[in-house]
Formats: sequence, structure tokens, C-alpha cells
Amino acid sequence: VPPVAIIGAGGHARETLDIFEAVNEGTPTWQVLGWLVESAFAGAGTLVNGHPILGDLGWLAGRTDGLQLVCAVGDPGVRRRLVLRAQSYGGRFCSVVHPRASVGRWVRLGEGVVVAAGAVVTNGVVLGDHVHVNVGCTVSHDVTCAAYSTLSPGVHVAGRVQVGEGAFLGIGASLIPDVVVGAWSVVGAGAVITRDVPPNSTVVGVPARVVRERSPGWQEG
Ligand SMILES: CC(C)(COP(=O)(O)OP(=O)(O)OC[C@H]1O[C@@H](n2cnc3c(N)ncnc32)[C@H](O)[C@@H]1OP(=O)(O)O)[C@@H](O)C(=O)NCCC(=O)NCCS
Repeated sequence: VPPVAIIGAGGHARETLDIFEAVNEGTPTWQVLGWLVESAFAGAGTLVNGHPILGDLGWLAGRTDGLQLVCAVGDPGVRRRLVLRAQSYGGRFCSVVHPRASVGRWVRLGEGVVVAAGAVVTNGVVLGDHVHVNVGCTVSHDVTCAAYSTLSPGVHVAGRVQVGEGAFLGIGASLIPDVVVGAWSVVGAGAVITRDVPPNSTVVGVPARVVRERSPGWQEG
């Protein structure tokens, strides 16, 4: 079975380990080697949920053994930065879907996608690279989630919605059909999105209103 390392070792990363372990309970599919972290997190060898911290991303340099990665950091901007660094060392990404998620046959997944337990992704959906769909989300027909977009637990996305690159949908948000969520925007917990969300903005409430606008590229700051 191919070796896999998880980038990150925080709460969301531990939840991602749970997904790999649930897959392995059915059919041994992955050999989880451990965690890759930014050097300040904890020293190599420290055990997290029984798996060692391997080191920082430099640990990837020169590996040619078919190692696969997922980046299990919740913040989309940080996730993108770590993915690009891992790729600069030749890192390759896999996707992982919890056996108790339902992902339809006509769904396309990019690489580095994480789909958690209880998520239901129906028909004609595209989940781009490094998209995370957390526990209990529903994603309806013909939805597109661009790279790095993030659905927190219990988000409900109606048909034909387009979620832009790096958009972060807070816990329990709901999106009505056909809305477009701009890239690198943030949707507050519990918001109901009834109209398009401009890029780089924060929206909250029912119905959601813009409460903050940021400059393009803010996520890299
Ligand atoms: C929307 C959010 C990002 C705003 O964070 P922030 O930029 O730090 O903004 P603030 O906390 O200063 O809030 C700004 C205003 O919006 C209000 N507000 C914040 N979040 C809100 C929400 N989810 N719904 C309604 N109003 C909200 C605040 O009360 C505040 O109002 P005020 O100016 O009248 O006092 C954050 O509150 C949020 O909802 N994050 C989602 C987190 C999440 O779901 N994580 C997933 C974990 S699994």
C-alpha cells in the first residue's frame, strides 16, 4: 500500500487521519507515515495520535518512493502556501473520501481533496484541487468548488452554485441555487447566501451582507 504523509498536525489534520484510518478499516489502502509540520509546531519524533512528526516540508526533498500527501490545514490561504512548498520539493497529492461519505458517480475530484464523514456530494459536482468538504455537508447537483475552497461542517450548497478559489464557508452556512461566491471570500458561520458574494469579502448573517472587503492577494499576507 502506498505511503502517505499528512501536512499539518492540528485538529483538522487529526480528523483527516481519522478518514485515512476509516478507509483502512475496510481495505488496507494507505500506510500513514506521519505528519509534516512547519518547524515551530513540534520536533521530529513527537507522537500525535500515535503517528510521529516526520519533520518540516524539507523532509520531502529527494523522496522517490511514491509517497502521497494531503494538506490537512483548515485555512485555505495557509493550505495553498504549504501545498506550493510541498510541490517545490516534488510532493504529490492524493485525495481521501471517508467511507461514510456519499460521493456520486458523476462527481469529479481534483488532487488533495478531503471529504469527511456524513458529507453528501450528489451529481455533476466538481471539487477542485485541495478542496475540503467537512463533516455533514451537502453539495447538490452541478456545483463547482474551485481549488482550495473549504466547506466547514454542516454547510449546505444548493444546485449550480459556484464557489471560488480559496473561499471559506463557515460552519452551517447555506447557499441558495445559482449564487457565485467570489475567490478568497469568507462566509460567516450560519450565513444564508442569497446573492453573489464579491471576491475577497467577508459576509455574515441571514440574508448575508458584506461586512469586510480586503485587497486581492490578502490571503498570502
Ligand atoms: C465571519 C467571521 C469570519 C468574522 O470574523 P472577524 O473578521 O474576526 O469579525 P468580527 O468577529 O470582528 O465580527 C464582525 C461583526 O460581524 C458579526 N459576526 C461575526 N460573525 C458572525 C456570524 N457568523 N453571523 C452573524 N454575525 C457575525 C460580529 O458580531 C461583529 O458585529 P458588530 O461589528 O456589530 O459587533 C467569523 O465570525 C465566523 O463566522 N467565522 C466562521 C468560523 C467557522 O465556521 N469555522 C469553522 C470551524 S470548523
